[in-house]
Amino acid sequence: MTIETTNTVYVLNGPNLNLLGTREPEIYGSDTLDDIAGMLEDRARELGLEIDMRQTNHEGMLVDWLHEAQAEGARAVLLNAAAYTHTSIALLDAIKAIRTPVIEVHLSDPMTREAFRHTSYVGMGAVECVSGHGAKSYLIALDTAANQ
Ligand code: DQA
Repeated sequence: MTIETTNTVYVLNGPNLNLLGTREPEIYGSDTLDDIAGMLEDRARELGLEIDMRQTNHEGMLVDWLHEAQAEGARAVLLNAAAYTHTSIALLDAIKAIRTPVIEVHLSDPMTREAFRHTSYVGMGAVECVSGHGAKSYLIALDTAANQ
């Protein structure tokens, strides 16, 4: 069955990102997830895209949402899987199981942080990674999604 691709980009956020704004602002900045959603919606409008922004603290929910992204014909997924980036083979398998392109996003640059953040299972399946630009990482990733 062929699924028609829509103009919707899923923006999936993993654990602890609901606390953005107050969570270690020296690392993650002072923008809240709602602030980021607002910036993404403005940019999406310019690009003729729609944003479906979500956050969960639960790994399996991210797996379900990746499946849903394909079933709903999402153009692409921006995925900040937060700490699950570095631990979740289930997320890697989900990314590989769908044809929807997944773009890995991080506010910080995990590669310049603790060694346990240097492995990215998400990155093993993602088409691209944007990290280290704070909230702007999401906007850069959205521009990439527009070309998918
Ligand atoms: C993060 C980086 C991860 O290493 C960390 O576990 C996070 C946030 C980021 O956006 O910089 O929770 O994904």
